[in-house]
Amino acid sequence: MKLVKLIANLGYGSRKQVALMFREGRITDADGEVLYADDKVPHAAIRIDDEALDPPTGMVLMLHKPTGYTCSTRDPGRVIYDLLPPRFRLRSPLLSPVGRLDRETSGLLLMTDDGQLLHRITSPKTGLAKVYEATLAQDLRGDEAAVFASGTLMLESETTPLAPALMVVDGPRRARLTLTEGRYHQVRRMFAAVGNHVDALHRSQVGGLALDGLPEGEWRLLDGVDLDRLFRAVD
Ligand code: URA
Repeated sequence: MKLVKLIANLGYGSRKQVALMFREGRITDADGEVLYADDKVPHAAIRIDDEALDPPTGMVLMLHKPTGYTCSTRDPGRVIYDLLPPRFRLRSPLLSPVGRLDRETSGLLLMTDDGQLLHRITSPKTGLAKVYEATLAQDLRGDEAAVFASGTLMLESETTPLAPALMVVDGPRRARLTLTEGRYHQVRRMFAAVGNHVDALHRSQVGGLALDGLPEGEWRLLDGVDLDRLFRAVD
């Protein structure tokens, strides 16, 4: 791919703006030698204003999503892209959330521009476990774990029952839920189905990957070791 297109696709500017950056000598190799638009240079050797380029397509990151942010590019309120470098929103292919968390749900959100990986993570065939910590409006009544594990719970306006889910009690109004599906508002609707209400919801784990101290509102790139961990079973 031509350098102008490659750099524009990473969100650094339009092709016209990137062509200007070349003319201004802002794009160099690792030794500071000015590059020209038709040079052939590996991605890792390119610098813009002495900074390494963002990762190429195939980028995966985890974000510790705070409440109050929507998983969308267009929303009048705050969106997850506000927490990332502005050019990440302009990448092509698009950097998308892997599944969604509700605006009022916090926790681990993966994002990638790799469509095949996104599909592998979200596909019901993969059955990747997601762990949620729910704080409830009312005390647990005692039968919830059995109802969720039954594989027969039918949510309103659905035509197939939920797959069995594991619930562990973590206090009178706190529960940890491990799901292998990702239906719309699933956790909130599951607790509504047993007469409760979720006051706060946090996703702590996706597959074998946890936030591991990543502060709220921050993100980090994932590498091969993280991806191996992601597809490893939840302990
Ligand atoms: N279940 C929900 O109800 N909300 C989320 O954000 C994720 C799972």
